This record gives sequence, structure tokens and C-alpha cells, in this order.
Amino acid sequence: MRNTQVIRTVDGLRAALAQPRRASARIGLVPTMGAFHEGHLSLMAQARRDCQVVVVSLFVNPAQFNETGDLAVYPRDEQRDLELAAEAGVDLMFAPGVAEIYPDGFATAVSVAGVTEPLEGAHRGPAHFDGVATVVAKLLHIVGPDVAYFGQKDAQQVLVIRRMVADLNIPVRVEVCPTAREPDGLAASSRNVRLSGDERRRASALHRGLRRAADLARDGERDGATILAAGRAELDGAGIDAEYFELVDPDTLAPVTQLNGRPALAVVAARVGDTRLIDNELVQSPTT
Ligand code: PAJ
Repeated sequence: MRNTQVIRTVDGLRAALAQPRRASARIGLVPTMGAFHEGHLSLMAQARRDCQVVVVSLFVNPAQFNETGDLAVYPRDEQRDLELAAEAGVDLMFAPGVAEIYPDGFATAVSVAGVTEPLEGAHRGPAHFDGVATVVAKLLHIVGPDVAYFGQKDAQQVLVIRRMVADLNIPVRVEVCPTAREPDGLAASSRNVRLSGDERRRASALHRGLRRAADLARDGERDGATILAAGRAELDGAGIDAEYFELVDPDTLAPVTQLNGRPALAVVAARVGDTRLIDNELVQSPTT
């Protein structure tokens, strides 16, 4: 349990980090939009193991929401988040207001081509990943961490950030942590609290579908269409209409039609009721 310090301004954060930076302390950053769950906490735990100073940012970034309704109902509970951050041993919680990040006259955007275009980019529109890349670039510049932590749950977001960090020569190591799941396999997500009891039960079909695809591949099936049909059947069985359920290359997100010894990523997005959920799982042919 730490006495986590809440900081609202860029200047305040830079001042708090000046001394540890001079002392060459290793600084870790966990960017979040709050409403902490096991996924966020696993990133903080990893940062706590690796770093001397752990910074968590909590900023519900309006620029990355493609539906204003989704932004309006995004869960927020800063006091609870602060308590969880303290339990996770976080040193600094950077929780700026919108005007601190996007002051009047703000006019710059970071736009990553290529990996932003399929899947989430196609369904949510280009503004989503522009919003993510811009705010993460700002956070990396504001905090100047040695390591930044992201979740595999948002696999495409990880690719976007890796591309941006490489292209803009941002001096940070990007660390990716495995997806934290509920006991029934549902990926932890801030949006899960919006599911009704019935929706919550049906939502476990997303992970079952991904597991079914991974199991078929592990048992030797190499045909992408066959693997996807089996996965999609799990969603159909739960009355869930997927926005996409695809097999893609884990680095480029290009469609994979035939497994050829390289791992592929099974990716899914679906609305359960009004709540949009995403998940993914690595799919691999037997090695022997
Ligand atoms: P948010 O959805 O709050 O997620 C913050 C971080 O937690 C992301 O890196 C995300 O991939 C990770 N995460 C979410 N669910 C997870 C799970 N079940 N297991 C492991 N990690 C999980 O992603 C964002 O915020 C924003 O786009 C952000 C990067 C903060 C930029 O605004």
C-alpha cells in the first residue's frame, strides 16, 4: 500500500519526476482510462516489479471515442481507482482534466497508417486510433518513462503504439502484458459493468469462440475458413452477431487463410446488447 499522489497538471508531474529522473530511477508508465479492473491491475503489478517509480495515467480521452454516447456512459470512479492504485503500489496517479491535455487551440494529431486500417479501424473509423496515438504520444512525452505497459487484450492498439514509438523515435520500451480474464474466460474490461445478467452470461461466448479456434488449430486444422466457422458457431449459439471474427497475421493484421506454421491471431469484436466487446487469442498449428 502506497500513499499514491494524485497530480492534475503536466508541470506538476514533471516536477514530481525531476528528482527520480536525476537519480536515474527507472520510471514505468501505465496509461489508462480508469474504471480499474484486473487487467489494469496486472499492468500496474508488472510495472511495480520492473520499476522504481510507477506512474498511472487516468484520462478518459474524448478524442478516441467514435460514439458520443459511449463517452457519456464510460464508467468513472476516481476515488475507487485511487484506492486500487494505492493497493497496487502506484507512486503517482496523473489524472488531468480535458483542458490540460487539449487546451484551447490544440491542433496536432498523430496518425499511424497501415495497422490502423483493418478491424477496429474499419469498424470504429480512423478517428479512434488517431485519438489513441495522439494521447499516448503526449503521455509518453509528458512522463518520459523508461517502460510503458499495455495489454494484449487490445492487440491492434499495441501494434499502433509500437509503430508510432519506432517511427517517432520515442525512447521508451513497450511492454505487453497478457489478457486478464474472468473465471469464465471473459476478458476483463471497463465496459463489462454495463452488461446485464443475461448479457454477461452470453458474453463468455467470445472467448469460447476464440478457444474453439485455437483448439482446432492445435489439433491440426490448417484451413482458416474451417477454423473461423467453428469459432463463429460459438457466438451464434449465444445469439451474438460478431462485427468481425477473423484470423490475421499478429504483426501486420493481414488476413490469414491457411495456417503455415507461423502463429496467427484470432480476433473478435461483437456487441452484446449495447456494449461493444473485443478479444483475441493466439492460434497455432502443432509444432511436431
Ligand atoms: P483502457 O481501456 O483503460 O486500458 C488501459 C490498458 O489496460 C491498455 O493497455 C489495455 O490494453 C489494458 N487492458 C485492458 N483490459 C485488459 C485485460 N483484460 N488484460 C490486460 N490488459 C488489459 O486502452 C486504453 O485504456 C486507452 O486506449 C489508452 C491506451 C489509455 C489511451 O487513451
